[in-house]
Amino acid sequence: MIKQAVRMLTHAIYTKALKPILFRFHPDAVHNDLVALTCWVQRIPGLRELPRLWSHYDDAMLAQDVAGITFRNPVGLSAGFDKKLVMPRMIRAVGFGWMTGGSVTWGEYKGNDGAWYYRLPKSKSLVVHAGLPSEGAHVVSSRVAEYPVAMFEEFPLVVSVAKTNTKGTVDEADAIKDYCASLARFDSLEQVKGLEINISCPNTFGGEPFTTPKRLEKLLKAVDTLKLSKPVFIKMPINLPLRDFDNLLDVIVKHAVVAVTIGNLHKDRKAVELKDVLPDTVKGNLSGAPARAVTTELVRHTYQRYGTRLIIVGTGGVFSAEEAYEKIRAGATLVGMITGMIFEGPSQIGAINHDLAKLLRRDGFHNVSEAIGVDS
Ligand SMILES: Cc1cc2nc3c(=O)[nH]c(=O)nc-3n(C[C@H](O)[C@H](O)[C@H](O)COP(=O)(O)O)c2cc1C
Repeated sequence: MIKQAVRMLTHAIYTKALKPILFRFHPDAVHNDLVALTCWVQRIPGLRELPRLWSHYDDAMLAQDVAGITFRNPVGLSAGFDKKLVMPRMIRAVGFGWMTGGSVTWGEYKGNDGAWYYRLPKSKSLVVHAGLPSEGAHVVSSRVAEYPVAMFEEFPLVVSVAKTNTKGTVDEADAIKDYCASLARFDSLEQVKGLEINISCPNTFGGEPFTTPKRLEKLLKAVDTLKLSKPVFIKMPINLPLRDFDNLLDVIVKHAVVAVTIGNLHKDRKAVELKDVLPDTVKGNLSGAPARAVTTELVRHTYQRYGTRLIIVGTGGVFSAEEAYEKIRAGATLVGMITGMIFEGPSQIGAINHDLAKLLRRDGFHNVSEAIGVDS
């Protein structure tokens, strides 16, 4: 009851007071400043624990064992928000059940020139054009290795690995080596509980080379030979014709992959009705509300085809418990989000978990796992 009141108050302060100020500044600057502030706050135990006032982290109704990993709740932070893996303490404190760090690449890359992010406030979306900036797997894995292993015991860390964004990895064999080097590196860390292969980052040199079945087959064959000890997730593109999407799934199920994350950013601006003006000069792909329906339908489709073979992480446009529940009922075991947190504030994670448990109880479920795929 008190937590609920704190959550509502925090949400109101964020959406009515803080967000209008933050949204006056360029999103790149706001993101950088918030990361710096978060890194400072999380060093101070008293401050770091403040979000526990509103988080809804521990609820038996929401806990599941998935691929040998215990998830206290299904709501995770998606890849891209904490690319350098500098904020896991705070991400855990706000109530996320798990997180995906990265995407990390083997080589260092500064990211695209120009702005990385552009806000579409009325459409509840961000245009993302970061281009896989990374400090490189050596730097990021060394940082992760410094964290206490216990920190991730009840808060699984998945690391997203992408191909270094340089001309040097345009060649297929080089690109595969590049992915494999990062995967092996992160697999060796006790702190890491899962590995996500990002085959679908849109703005990279040479395009998206592993979103064709033939090439994905080669990549996954090489990944199989690594005999990774951690479960492998694949981050899926969401704009392929359904037949092509299915062809990728057909390849994936033949390999040592346990989960698919559906999915990455929406690349087809013309296919969505935006409530904001989006100038052609703004490059990038869409997150948030425009990605909601397409990802939910792909989750449903994938669950119908491969629900007994693949775990599905539903990601795209989750802002509320209802939207998380919709993805779960369509077939998602776990739910990922970024944009919902940026638009609704960090207390929304607790609100989603709290209200999700309420929705599950209303519908007679005893645990979230019972609701997976009931609408498919
Ligand atoms: C700021 C930002 C950066 C992102 N960077 C990555 C990334 O590095 N790797 C990746 O796999 N996905 C990345 N994504 C895509 C998200 O992981 C997610 O798939 C997508 O945003 C849909 O979820 P959402 O609507 O909750 O934001 C990024 C998204 C945003 C908003």
